Amino acid sequence: MKTAIYPGSFDPVTYGHLDIIRRAADIFDELIISVLNNVRKTPLFSVEERVKILEDATKDMPNIRIESFSGLLVDYAREKDVHVIVRGLRAITDFEYELQNAQTNRLLSGEELDTMFFTTSLQYSYLSSTTVKEIASYGGDVSGCVPEFVAELIYGKFGIR
Ligand code: PNS
Repeated sequence: MKTAIYPGSFDPVTYGHLDIIRRAADIFDELIISVLNNVRKTPLFSVEERVKILEDATKDMPNIRIESFSGLLVDYAREKDVHVIVRGLRAITDFEYELQNAQTNRLLSGEELDTMFFTTSLQYSYLSSTTVKEIASYGGDVSGCVPEFVAELIYGKFGIR
């Protein structure tokens, strides 16, 4: 069985992430979406909330599992015995950071962990969780960026509506 890990902050999941999730889940037998519990960052949504949002947003996809992790991705992947990481590339600006991470993970894993890049569908190439949160914080319309229930949760965090 071919399994891949799609790691990220997912604070919160956007249509851009969901596009990658759907396409990766079509290729792999199982996709583990792994939410980083980063103690150095203050996310809008707790790790438990982010996991629950992802579970709800992917409930129609049978071969998906949502988990959280902390620490190094290579250690987590080794623990799961998974050798493929999935990441999305929106634009050239993502490339340098993603290449560095992919090379580092390959090195740290003793060349056992590869990263597979999906080019984000064009209509989502401008999207990021950060932008969505900023728009929503000013009461702007994020309905084209995230599922409706996620939009409501973001507005709720900002005390809007
Ligand atoms: O959604 P993001 O914030 O772009 O995801 C970044 C993520 C979670 C993939 C990356 O920060 C990560 O893997 N963090 C875990 C710590 C780690 O392994 N760092 C070394 C990678 S070079």
